[in-house]
Amino acid sequence: MSDLITQLNWRYATKKFDTTKKLTSEQLSILTEALRLAPSSFGLQPWGFVVVTDPTIRIQLKEAAWGQAQVTDASELIVLCRKTEFGEKNVIEFVQDIAAQRGIPAEGMAEYQKMMTDSVTSMSATDLSAWTTHQLYLSLGVVLSAAAMENIDACPMEGFDKAKFDEILGLKEKGLSSCVICSVGFRASDDEYASLKKVRYSAEKVITKI
Ligand SMILES: Cc1cc2nc3c(=O)[nH]c(=O)nc-3n(C[C@H](O)[C@H](O)[C@H](O)COP(=O)(O)O)c2cc1C
Repeated sequence: MSDLITQLNWRYATKKFDTTKKLTSEQLSILTEALRLAPSSFGLQPWGFVVVTDPTIRIQLKEAAWGQAQVTDASELIVLCRKTEFGEKNVIEFVQDIAAQRGIPAEGMAEYQKMMTDSVTSMSATDLSAWTTHQLYLSLGVVLSAAAMENIDACPMEGFDKAKFDEILGLKEKGLSSCVICSVGFRASDDEYASLKKVRYSAEKVITKI
């Protein structure tokens, strides 16, 4: 079996973390790099990732996350956020970044820039919010796979009050809003979820080859 499939079988949504085990700074860097390298529509990266280690803040966040112990007990809590004001200025910033990083003139990308701007600015506020949120779920998938490959445990969570998280973390002032969260660290030796059989539909049920 490939390493990837072995590790995807190894991982599970960890409910009980070992509070004494912390990620090394190298392990944390691998996870934040995985987030940074995640693909996004057009490559526009409409996101920000907040790594919360501070125990006092995490006690407040736990209350706003239905008391889920993973929020306080894991080594770190990552809050995956969308940019709230996303529009033409972000497209311009991105095109200028491509020009700088690839050493090519931004003017040569005028048509590409217009296409992206039209796409982003033609969306309603609701659609734009949904579109940016989709990008964050993709980065969640990347970081979960990266964590598994590194033998790091994780728990993705949607069970939290986004408005309260935004307030506690001062995300509005940063132009961000929380979409989904992910605790990362190491499983407690007595987490009973670790030994549960992984339940997935069969390949015949979910894979169609045409
Ligand atoms: C987007 C998303 C949100 C989730 N939210 C929560 C949550 O709030 N709390 C929790 O304990 N597990 C949460 N989970 C974990 C799922 O319940 C778990 O991934 C699923 O049951 C499959 O089990 P496995 O990941 O252990 O294989 C979430 C998973 C995903 C992908």
